[in-house]
Amino acid sequence: MSIEYRKSLRHLNTFGIESICRGYAPFADIETLKALFEMADAPVFILGGGSNILLPDEMDHLVFHNQITGIQVIGEQGDKVTIRAGGGVIWHDLVTWAVDHELGGLENLALIPGTVGAAPIQNIGAYGIELTDRFVRLSAYNRSSGIIRSFDLEECAFGYRDSVFKQGERDQWVILDIDLQLSTSPILALDYGAIRDELKLAGVDDPGIRDVFQTVVRIRQSKLPDPAEIGNAGSFFKNPVIPSADFQALKERYPNIPGYPVDQKDTKIPAGWLIDQAGWKGVRRGSCGVHDRQALVLVNYGGTTAALIRDLANEIITDIQSRYSIHLEQEVNIL
Ligand code: EPU
Repeated sequence: MSIEYRKSLRHLNTFGIESICRGYAPFADIETLKALFEMADAPVFILGGGSNILLPDEMDHLVFHNQITGIQVIGEQGDKVTIRAGGGVIWHDLVTWAVDHELGGLENLALIPGTVGAAPIQNIGAYGIELTDRFVRLSAYNRSSGIIRSFDLEECAFGYRDSVFKQGERDQWVILDIDLQLSTSPILALDYGAIRDELKLAGVDDPGIRDVFQTVVRIRQSKLPDPAEIGNAGSFFKNPVIPSADFQALKERYPNIPGYPVDQKDTKIPAGWLIDQAGWKGVRRGSCGVHDRQALVLVNYGGTTAALIRDLANEIITDIQSRYSIHLEQEVNIL
């Protein structure tokens, strides 16, 4: 085990941004992780799939890359099956594994880029399901004390693209593995967006988990750019949550504005709609721009930098603030 100094992370972040880090080392087990922390002489950044980060040109950090693999069934009760997956497993590989084993519950989360270990940090979600809906517990390594402890559902304090690992426990833990509860007789979640319509179009009357999986893959492929072809980090902004009274006022000015109630008093608005309506879809600023099929996604046309992406994001934030009096927050982690 050794640290590779001044390593390029260009192929290790889905934005495809050239970034040189102070040092880089992969780890596939806890012993290696412990030894790496003992050797560390600079701040450490734990890298997963690199799919939700915007990296600077030069990074002062040591980058330790989670490659802990393995997926196994650890418990069965009736139709409920608990599985454990290593933090370095590619998220979509886990979803595919579950579908291949006829275990339902993750099919709506197909094709989300990133790793299993990163999934709880921002409580990944898509098409009406979030990680929290399937989550049982995780185990994590404390960066300063070296202890390993378990976090249950409550302790993770999951919220919309949020958890304790983005708040009070930020940068304290390395996620080693997570346990999820799946089902051999799942209740399918078909109510979000285009899923039901797409299934109908495909002539599927009585869908199973593989049909939903394939539908989600198709919808995502038609709207979201493939990082292998064009660098991006998925949704760059979070969908803003505003008081429902403010939403009603907006609705009078913009009758087509979509909104989803989140509780008694608040409504979530698709940032993609706001950015699209403001005319940003497909806008290009040199080496970066706004994706032409989903305005929530910023893309790298080749050779862009974090500074240029940040300038574009700030232009969008200012414009949305002045048009709608809504403040957009970044979803991507900016280092
Ligand atoms: N919309 C537009 N124009 C756009 C994009 C969206 O008008 O350019 C409208 C759509 O017509 C629709 C609404 O906005 O009425 C919602 O769009 P969509 O279903 O595509 O979802 P989203 O809110 O834009 C969220 C997640 C995605 C996730 C999808 C599907 C966030 C920040 N993003 O996007 O997650 O895949 O729902 O569930 O919550 C990610 O986090 O990286 C990500 C891609």
